[in-house]
Amino acid sequence: MQQPVRIAPSILSADFALLGEEVRAIDAAGADWIHVDVMDGHFVPNLTIGPAVVKALRPHTAKPFDVHLMVSPVDNWLEPFAEAGADTITVHPEAGPHLHRTIQRIKALGKRAGVSLNPATPAKALDYVLEEVDLVLVMSVNPGFGGQGFIDSQLAKIEAIRNRIDKLGKAIDLEVDGGVDRETAPRAIAAGADALVAGTATFRGGPDAYAANIAALRGP
Ligand code: DX5
Ligand code: ZN
Repeated sequence: MQQPVRIAPSILSADFALLGEEVRAIDAAGADWIHVDVMDGHFVPNLTIGPAVVKALRPHTAKPFDVHLMVSPVDNWLEPFAEAGADTITVHPEAGPHLHRTIQRIKALGKRAGVSLNPATPAKALDYVLEEVDLVLVMSVNPGFGGQGFIDSQLAKIEAIRNRIDKLGKAIDLEVDGGVDRETAPRAIAAGADALVAGTATFRGGPDAYAANIAALRGP
């Protein structure tokens, strides 16, 4: 069942010199989750945030940390991010040899488990694991950078996964990540998404604009 839309600003687009302040600002502006993009310069061509930064940010908000690991091999990083204060830990099927085991490890750490699909990764990658996860993250850009354009072909994938979740009857979050803005958000929601990651569209205009930016993504 599609749930009310949750907005997860990606701090990748925040001012990295002021990260604590930025997290407090998006919390106050109505963010539901704080999306943390972890990149290793290997699985994706960019290098970003490690567990030490997540730990340092933890006291700045009580909102859930939605940690998106674009790291391979991923398994050795589950525990450090769990200990640092992640609430949901999302991995890519290509980032390790045993996706099912990785999901079980995340759950054994007491965290919510997510699986993320790159634009060229089919929904079929969720076979035999969908019922195990708390969240599916559909990438609507190729992972690695903020500020890219939404890839329309991912709408059909969102629809297909929405149908599978509804058939299963479990409250699995269906999140979309990349190029989400005022124009693409309603299309993603219409396709069945119920959580939206937004970096550029949240942080544009500076702190005074964050509340309006987040509200606009939720729709009317
Ligand atoms: C891309 C990241 C996204 C990205 C979204 O690899 O996973 O979370 O920061 O940024 P925007 O909203 O700017 O496309
Ligand atoms: Zn992300």
